Amino acid sequence: MLFVFPSCSNDEIKPIGSDVRLDTRPTVDQGGEKDLNKDGSQGAKDLHLASAESCGECHKAHYSDWKGSMHAYATTDPIYLAMLERGINDTQGKIDQFCIQCHAPIASKEGMTPIESLGDGRYGAKFDQSNPLVSGGVVCVTCHAMEKAEATLNAKFELSKTTYYAASANPRGQEEHPVETSTLLPSSVMCGTCHNVVNPKGALIENTFSEWYASPYNDGDADDKTCQDCHMPTYRGEIVDGVTTTIHKHQFVGVDVALVDFPQKVEQRRLVEELLGSAVELEIKRTNDQGDEIAIRVSLKNVNNGHALPSGSTSDRQVWVHLKVFNQADEIVFESGALDAQGDLKDRVEGHSLDPAGDPELLVFGSFLFDDNGEHVNFPWQAARSQDFLLQPGQVGWREYEISKTLVGGQKIRVEAAVNYRTFPPFIVRQLEEEGLLKIKLSDKIPIIKMAEKTITLTIP
Ligand code: HEC
Ligand code: HEC
Ligand code: HEC
Ligand code: HEC
Ligand code: HEC
Repeated sequence: MLFVFPSCSNDEIKPIGSDVRLDTRPTVDQGGEKDLNKDGSQGAKDLHLASAESCGECHKAHYSDWKGSMHAYATTDPIYLAMLERGINDTQGKIDQFCIQCHAPIASKEGMTPIESLGDGRYGAKFDQSNPLVSGGVVCVTCHAMEKAEATLNAKFELSKTTYYAASANPRGQEEHPVETSTLLPSSVMCGTCHNVVNPKGALIENTFSEWYASPYNDGDADDKTCQDCHMPTYRGEIVDGVTTTIHKHQFVGVDVALVDFPQKVEQRRLVEELLGSAVELEIKRTNDQGDEIAIRVSLKNVNNGHALPSGSTSDRQVWVHLKVFNQADEIVFESGALDAQGDLKDRVEGHSLDPAGDPELLVFGSFLFDDNGEHVNFPWQAARSQDFLLQPGQVGWREYEISKTLVGGQKIRVEAAVNYRTFPPFIVRQLEEEGLLKIKLSDKIPIIKMAEKTITLTIP
C-alpha cells in the first residue's frame, strides 16, 4: 500500500490539493458590504477577520454546534496552553507560531499572537483571550474563507479577504455576504492542511490526513468517504432562522471532550462514546494450548474509521486491552492492562509508571516520541522521530495470552476483555502539573472510554 507522507522540504511536498486549487476568482466589490464583524472594529473590512460570533448571529445552529466542538476549544484547552508555554520556553521563543498556526490560525496569520520576551529569560505568547480570533481557535472563516491549500501539513493554506466559500453549486446568501462555490471546502484536503503535523525537527507527529489518503476510503470506489462524510453528518435543520434545508453538523466529534467548563460537554461526551463504540471489533478466541498453558487470543480490528486508531496526537492517545481471567471461585488468575496507583499503564518505559515491567503482555496502541539521542520524550517539539503502534483502517492487532492451568485449578474460566480509549496518559499531565504549568489538577480527570467489551467462558479439558 502506498503511503504518502508529508515532507519538510519544499521541493518534496506533494501538493495533494493542487487539483482543487481555485486560481480564478471573480473580484468582489467591498463597497457597501455589510460589516459582518460585530466585535468592535470599524469600517469595510477583510472578510476573513469575522468572528464566529458574528456568523452565529444568523447561522445559529452552526454556531451552537461549533461552540461545543474541539475546534472552538483549541485555544481554551488547558493542556494545550500548558504545553505551548513549555514549548515556548524550552526553545527560547524559537518555536514561534508553530503551534498557534493551527490552534488559532487566523490570529496567528494576522500577527495577533507574537511571542514576547517576558524578561529574566522567560518567554510567552501574547494571547489576548478577549480577541475572538484568539479565543475562538479554529473559527468559521478558517474553513469558509480558505481559498487555496498549498500542502496538506502545517496550516499551509491561504485565505480570501473578499469572499466566503460554500460547497453548493449556487451558493445562497449573497445579500448577506459574498459567497462562492469551492471544491476545496468539501474535500479532505481542506482538513488535511492541519490534520498532518510535521514538527520543526522534521518528525511526523500527526498523520491523520496521510493515513486517510492511503486508506480504502480514498481508493476511488463508490464507498469512499471524506473527513466531512464521517465528521460532519447531514440533517434537516435551519441554515438561518426560518429556512429549513439539509445542513451539516458542525460538532466535529472525535475522541476528545473538554476538561474545563465548556458548552455541550454532556452531548459531546455521548457522541464521542458513540463514535468510539463503532470503531473497533473485539474478538476473544481460544487457540492451541501449549502443555500447561491455555492460549487465548484477543484481537481488535479498526473498523468504520477513515484513518488509524488512534490517530492525530497519537503520542498522547492510548488504546489498550484490559484483560481479566477469573477461575471458578471468581478470583482473578491473570490480568493485563490494569492501571498503577497513579492511573498509568505499565507500558515498559522507565518513568511512565510506578512499575514499568509489571505488565509484560500489555497490548497498547499509540506512539512514542524520541529525541536526537534516542531518549523517550513527552512533548511534540522535542521529538526527532516518532515510533508508531497504530491500527490502520481495516487492520487487526492481536496478542496471545498464556494462562497456566495449574494456576486456574478448576474446570472453567471466565475471560473478560475490554478495549479502552483515553486522550492523555496521566504521567504527561502530571509532569505539567508538577512544573506549575497546569494551574488545575487534571491528571486524575482524563476519562477512560470503553470502546468494546466481551466475556467468554471456557472449559478446561
Ligand atoms: C446577516 C446574516 C448572516 C451573517 C452574519 C452570515 N450569514 Fe451566511 N448566510 C446568510 C443567509 C441568509 C444565507 C442563505 C440561506 C439560505 O437561503 O439557504 C447564508 C448562507 C451561507 C452559506 C451557505 C451558502 C450555500 O448556499 O451553500 C455559508 C457557507 C455561509 N452563509 C457562511 C457564513 C459565514 C462563514 C459567516 C460568518 C463569517 C456568515 N455566513 C455570516 C446570512 C448570514
Ligand atoms: C469512515 C469514517 C471516518 C473518516 C472518513 C474519517 N474519520 Fe476521523 N474518526 C472516525 C472515527 C470512528 C474516529 C474515532 C476513532 C479514532 O480515534 O481513530 C475518528 C477520530 C478522529 C480524530 C481523533 C483521533 C484521535 O484518536 O485522537 C480526528 C482528529 C479525526 N478523526 C479527523 C479526521 C480527518 C481530518 C479525516 C479526513 C482526513 C477523517 N477524520 C476521516 C471516523 C472517520
Ligand atoms: C473545520 C472547518 C469548518 C469550520 C470551522 C466551520 N465550517 Fe461550516 N462548513 C464546513 C464544510 C466542509 C461545509 C460543507 C460541507 C459540504 O457541503 O460538503 C460547511 C457548511 C456550512 C454551511 C452551509 C450549510 C451546511 O451546513 O451545509 C454554513 C451556513 C456553515 N458551514 C456555517 C458555518 C459557521 C457559521 C461556522 C462557525 C460557527 C462554521 N461553518 C465553521 C466546514 C467548516
Ligand atoms: C486550521 C486548522 C484546522 C483545520 C483546517 C481543521 N482542523 Fe480539525 N482540529 C484542529 C485542531 C487544532 C484540533 C484540536 C483542538 C484541541 O483539542 O486542542 C482539531 C480537532 C478536530 C477534531 C476533534 C479531535 C478529537 O480529538 O476529538 C475533529 C474530529 C476534527 N478536528 C475534524 C476536522 C475536519 C473534518 C476538518 C475539515 C472539515 C478539520 N478538522 C479541519 C485544527 C484544524
Ligand atoms: C499542523 C497543525 C498543528 C500544529 C502545528 C500543532 N497542532 Fe496540536 N493539534 C492539531 C490537531 C489537528 C489536533 C487534533 C488531533 C487529535 O485530536 O488527535 C491537535 C491536538 C493537540 C493536542 C491535544 C488536544 C486535546 O485536548 O486532546 C495538544 C495538547 C496539542 N495539539 C498541542 C500542540 C502543541 C503544544 C503544538 C506545538 C508544539 C501543536 N499542538 C502544534 C494540529 C496542530
